[in-house]
Amino acid sequence: MCGIVGYFGKKDAVKALLDGLSRLEYRGYDSAGVAIPDGDSVSIIRTVGKLENLKAALSTKNIKANMGIGHTRWATHGRPSEINAHPHRSGSIVLVHNGIVENYIELKESLEESGYSFISDTDTEVLAHLIRSLYRGDLFSALRDAVSKVRGSYAIAVIDADKRDRIVVTRRDVPLVLGVDDINGEYIAASDIPAALNITRDFIMLEDGGFAQISADGVTEYNPAGEIIQKKITHIDWDPVMAEKDGYPDFMLKEINEQPRTLMDTLRGKIIPDEGKIYLGELEGLKSKAGELERIVIVACGTSLHSGMIGKLYIESYAILPVEVDIASEFLQRSLPLSDKVLVICISQSGETADTKQALRLAKKRGAKVAAICNVLGSAIASEADYCIYTHAGPEISVASTKAFTSQTIVLLLFSLWLGEQRDVLGKKAISEILNDLLHIPDKLKAIFADQENIKSIALKYIHAPSFLFIARHYNYPIAFEGALKLKEISYIHAEGYCSGELKHGPIALLSDNFPVMVYAPAGTVKDKVFSAIEEVQARGASVIAVISEDAIPPSQCSDIIRIPETREELSVLLTVVVSQLFAYYAAKGLNRDVDKPRNLAKSVTVE
Ligand code: G6P
Repeated sequence: MCGIVGYFGKKDAVKALLDGLSRLEYRGYDSAGVAIPDGDSVSIIRTVGKLENLKAALSTKNIKANMGIGHTRWATHGRPSEINAHPHRSGSIVLVHNGIVENYIELKESLEESGYSFISDTDTEVLAHLIRSLYRGDLFSALRDAVSKVRGSYAIAVIDADKRDRIVVTRRDVPLVLGVDDINGEYIAASDIPAALNITRDFIMLEDGGFAQISADGVTEYNPAGEIIQKKITHIDWDPVMAEKDGYPDFMLKEINEQPRTLMDTLRGKIIPDEGKIYLGELEGLKSKAGELERIVIVACGTSLHSGMIGKLYIESYAILPVEVDIASEFLQRSLPLSDKVLVICISQSGETADTKQALRLAKKRGAKVAAICNVLGSAIASEADYCIYTHAGPEISVASTKAFTSQTIVLLLFSLWLGEQRDVLGKKAISEILNDLLHIPDKLKAIFADQENIKSIALKYIHAPSFLFIARHYNYPIAFEGALKLKEISYIHAEGYCSGELKHGPIALLSDNFPVMVYAPAGTVKDKVFSAIEEVQARGASVIAVISEDAIPPSQCSDIIRIPETREELSVLLTVVVSQLFAYYAAKGLNRDVDKPRNLAKSVTVE
């Protein structure tokens, strides 16, 4: 769960590495380091804490170099410390690594027997010694031989400090892309695309198990067998500024505000609303099987799981098919029978979440077809699924997921309508009505943004509350979960999401004077039931923050009211969730939290 970068080119390598690392900090930020040529060797500079510390350390040195490797860490083996930070070194072998060497203890023992001594607590140091022990002058061969002995996941960038003429990279089960600018002679390897956007938009998506050498002559790509292969360049449309803050104080606020646009990007090319048509070309192969499906299992983690919970309700009501939703790590423990009549849908913004990826592999092994909903192009989950629908929400940098959620929810809606049509349970007229309502959501979101000051002042009012409850019912029940998750993730205020129907079965015992309860009660079939829950909460002296439709008459004595534009019930989640995102954001800012990089969390959980 780290970010790695390797740069080779004609410009300032320190700048290129720091630029790249700053866009990878979301992958981990407990320590960072670089290895840069310095005279006839390399200097390794490592610092604990955020990248700022590394920048400060580098600014005191005047290193001019045209190549180097860098790393931002999220500790898995060994606490965050300078000695455990990357790059790691053994003789002239210097490397950075993302992933986990599962058999590092046995490798370490055998290396110790051969006389190597270890100074860090990391699994990565094993790689440095292992490569050194196999090095006979050809770095590429040594790396290949080394990883053939490794069990686990890795993206590695390695250099020979004595030669400094190339960077050799490989990956297995974690991402690594290669940015290529042949015209300017600049090359960059990175854990993710945004890290390279300042240099190029042309990428090689290194295949799983593949290798590459980067030198002044360019990039040479190898397949897992070590044979040179023809480079396949993918052009990425993302603009570098899309990966930056765009004038907002934080990525999170930027990403929340982007949603009117990202939702349209998600829909682009997929619908003709007036004709009730949905194009999901990615699912062409599923068309003939759609009628035979017996059930669907949705698997995901975190925020993606909550969009899956809404997807279940969409699929059940529009495609009339039973759906279960499971946390990916739990799915892995179950003996759930699957077959080719079951479709497993894996939802993942990053496409790299370890548990979701393992769940995908298990589902395939048990004979199910797997569809993925991912945001990151060429990610592992996207590549390994039988079908993949991309959300096209653009890079999401803030650790707490926002715009990916609304795009995932829209993809699930489109999928359920598409499936309903394939299964002859939904006609074009009904689809057309829903799609036309969907097209109004971006404007309705803008109305919520216009009310941001109200949401902010309510959030600030409650920031010293020790605990929060979020309740809702039916479509908005997952939003109660998501609202609570967002608040706890970035403000560190304890929060729980509950179905309002469960209030009397436990959580009502928590309520006393001024206990804040956010209640989602937009117009729809369950509004009156949720309004009754508001009365019950108020009767215990708790403070109700009611999220209700613009014309609704609120139950008496709501402490605070947030109004949202009216829409059909199943689409209201796209509005209520944005209220939750803004609420959590302003609460966290009020408490001076680092909203983009909350403590202990990482954007991409690439280890179990
Ligand atoms: C981490 C992130 C969450 C994200 C979850 C699932 O916990 O902090 O924001 O929802 O992983 O990630 P995925 O990339 O699979 O959607």
